[in-house]
Amino acid sequence: MSHDYLILHGINLNMFGRRDARVYGTATLDDINKALYTEAQNLGVQLDIFQTNVEGLMAERIHQALDDGTKGVVINAGAWTHYSYGLLDALDILSVPVVEVHMSHVAGRESFRHVSVIAPACCGTIAGFGINSYVLGLKALHQVVLERSV
Ligand code: DQA
Repeated sequence: MSHDYLILHGINLNMFGRRDARVYGTATLDDINKALYTEAQNLGVQLDIFQTNVEGLMAERIHQALDDGTKGVVINAGAWTHYSYGLLDALDILSVPVVEVHMSHVAGRESFRHVSVIAPACCGTIAGFGINSYVLGLKALHQVVLERSV
C-alpha cells in the first residue's frame, strides 16, 4: 500500500475507550483513526496506521519506513515513550520528520511521564488535547514536510 505518512500507536493504546476516562476521555483507537483519516483527506495525503503492544514489532515497523515511501511519522509510543531507548534508536535511523503525540497532558502528570526518551528523535510534541493531539500532530507533520521540500 502506498502512503505518505505513517501513524504509530504503541503499547496499550488499543485500549483507549476502556482506560481512565478522566485522563484519556472516551474516544477509542477507531475514533482516533477515523479523525486522522478525515484530516488526511483534508490535507490530500494517504496514511498507513499501525498499532502494536510488542516493542520489537514497533521497531521493525519503523525499520520498514526506511524503504516504503514514508515521508513522515506521527507516533504515540504510550508508556514506551518514557523508557524505550530501543525505539529512540529505531526512530533515529529515519531521516523523515517524526512528531510525538499524547492524548493526555503528560507534563502535568506523574514525574516519570515528564521524560520522553524518544523526544530527541522527534521534531516536536503535541500533548494534552485528546483526539485533537493526533489531528494537530498530523497537521504539524504535514507543515514540516512541506517546509522541508522547498
Ligand atoms: C499516553 C501517555 C503515556 O504516559 C501513557 O503511558 C499512555 C498514553 C497518552 O497518549 O497520553 O499509555 O501516551
